[in-house]
Amino acid sequence: MRTLLVAGNWKMNKTFQEAEVLTEQITEAVEKLHLDSVEVVLCPPAPYLEMVLDLTDETHVAVGAQNISDHDFGAYTGEISAPMLRSMEVEYCIIGHSERRKYFHESNELLAQKVNSALKFGIAPIFCCGEVLSEREGGNHLDVVKSQLEESLFHLEEKDFRNVVIAYEPVWAIGTGKTATPEQAQEMHAYLRQLILSKYGERVAEDAIILYGGSCTAGNAFNLFSQPDVDGGLIGGASLKGEEFVEIVRIAIDCT
Ligand code: PGA
Repeated sequence: MRTLLVAGNWKMNKTFQEAEVLTEQITEAVEKLHLDSVEVVLCPPAPYLEMVLDLTDETHVAVGAQNISDHDFGAYTGEISAPMLRSMEVEYCIIGHSERRKYFHESNELLAQKVNSALKFGIAPIFCCGEVLSEREGGNHLDVVKSQLEESLFHLEEKDFRNVVIAYEPVWAIGTGKTATPEQAQEMHAYLRQLILSKYGERVAEDAIILYGGSCTAGNAFNLFSQPDVDGGLIGGASLKGEEFVEIVRIAIDCT
């Protein structure tokens, strides 16, 4: 039985004070739940990482960054690297979010470097893949995600690949209120697992955590998470509301 994972991607939202309140609200509520088979990760904006790490210390809530540099150290003004995050005890990092691909022109090749750097320093990538609407309408969605995995992840050795979490996020569903149907999500997740099986074998494929992301809310989480190949969610908008995010964690528990 795979662990389910629910990660909140706060993106570029909240003031420091609002983020403190949200962290406290989520952590307090999550600590009252039986989380044996569900992992919870908060991914705040980088300047808030230290605060969120402090408030979640010794709790069941883990912390992730939203992006990292492809370099380890050096003259890269404004960047944040994997060894820096590791030295703060950040455990996860979202890599390859579609907003980074679109607005910051991050290519599959660059993302492979970011994945390498994260893994080298013991940070688990939450690697995002997904097609845009025209690709889905053109029937190319499977090929698009196949290239994303092949070009950014499939150079990894098995032991490293095992530390990667994959998040399937159809770009047309992100922040739009238009969620993939459970059938669309299941079709893609089963395909992703099949690709992993072909590359790394059955055991690795069986253990791989594949999240769904894109307008996932407390209203649709159950139908998505109860699909056999959907192992939780990467939650954007709904992770900014403490009660709703905790409800999504509760739903994940119900689906285990
Ligand atoms: P959304 O964002 O839940 O607001 O659609 C998900 C994401 O971008 O990770």
